[in-house]
Amino acid sequence: MEAVKRRVRDDKMLCYCKSVTYGEVRASIRAVNARSVLEVTRECDAGGGCRTCHPEIEDLLEEARMERPGMLRRLWARLTRHTVGGDA
Ligand code: FES
Repeated sequence: MEAVKRRVRDDKMLCYCKSVTYGEVRASIRAVNARSVLEVTRECDAGGGCRTCHPEIEDLLEEARMERPGMLRRLWARLTRHTVGGDA
């Protein structure tokens, strides 16, 4: 059984090299609709040092993908092999 990850608090430090918190990274992802670590780094500097925090940034990018509108509908369509919008 796959473990369910708990949401890390916004005030916890994510990138120690650049002193950026989880909340600041989440806000940066939302601000520019970031889809990669590079886009996050450009926006808030997180990940711009030793790169140790890149897996955590990837986790937040995945978290954001799961929260985007329509994600559940697209996932359900894929799982049930129906097309989104019912055109086919
Ligand atoms: S901890 Fe984020 S770049 Fe080093």
